[in-house]
Amino acid sequence: MDRRSRKRIANLYDNLLQRGYVRGKLAGDPVYAATAALLGESSLPLLDIGCGIGLLGQYLNAQGHVRRYLGLDHDPRKITAGRLAAQRAGLDDVMNLQHADAAELPPVYGNVALLDVLHYLPARRQSALLQSAARHLAPRGCLIIRNVLREESWRFHATRIEEFFLHASGWISVAPQHYPSANELRAPLENAGLDVRIEPLHGHTPFNSYLIVARPH
Ligand SMILES: C[S@@+](CC[C@H](N)C(=O)[O-])C[C@H]1O[C@@H](n2cnc3c(N)ncnc32)[C@H](O)[C@@H]1O
Repeated sequence: MDRRSRKRIANLYDNLLQRGYVRGKLAGDPVYAATAALLGESSLPLLDIGCGIGLLGQYLNAQGHVRRYLGLDHDPRKITAGRLAAQRAGLDDVMNLQHADAAELPPVYGNVALLDVLHYLPARRQSALLQSAARHLAPRGCLIIRNVLREESWRFHATRIEEFFLHASGWISVAPQHYPSANELRAPLENAGLDVRIEPLHGHTPFNSYLIVARPH
């Protein structure tokens, strides 16, 4: 995404901190481009669980992928900021943002995104959420997860330090509960009948981020 588009999206948000965050995220984090590439031309609705301020929806629309987008987040401040940004971008008819916990997924079936969310839930809720996300996939849908994985690496420790500051600064209202291993994510997805692919996705960031892609057989 070019600098002009990043600036345009950042300016949809009121708060200076959010604007800086949006610019940095869009410039340095490959997760939105990776998600757009996986979704391709799919016209299925997209359920974005833990959508934050709705950046994935903004990114997809800026790249010309107009699809039905439903974002859910349990932080009402993020939903308010995301809705305002969608209105300002003239996207309120395609971007729907709702205040909800990941435990209460609406009856939407299509593609599902779960980007940097799982580690804010305890282990048993992670497994339940993965099963529930799998049930929201359409037959040709794709479940796209990005998450930090628990490993003995400097990247993992760098991620834990970042998470400490994200929580201490109030940017994320809940502290990390459990950092999953690759197998903890793979097992419930395979048990739900999905083919699973896991690969590193940290771009130029120092974090231990992985992309987990799961599709029905
Ligand atoms: C690091 S942010 C990622 C935001 C977004 N997915 C993105 O990548 O741009 C994690 C988000 O997960 C949300 N979250 C954490 N636990 C949640 C839960 N139980 N239900 C809904 N949202 C949750 C947080 O409020 C936060 O907005």
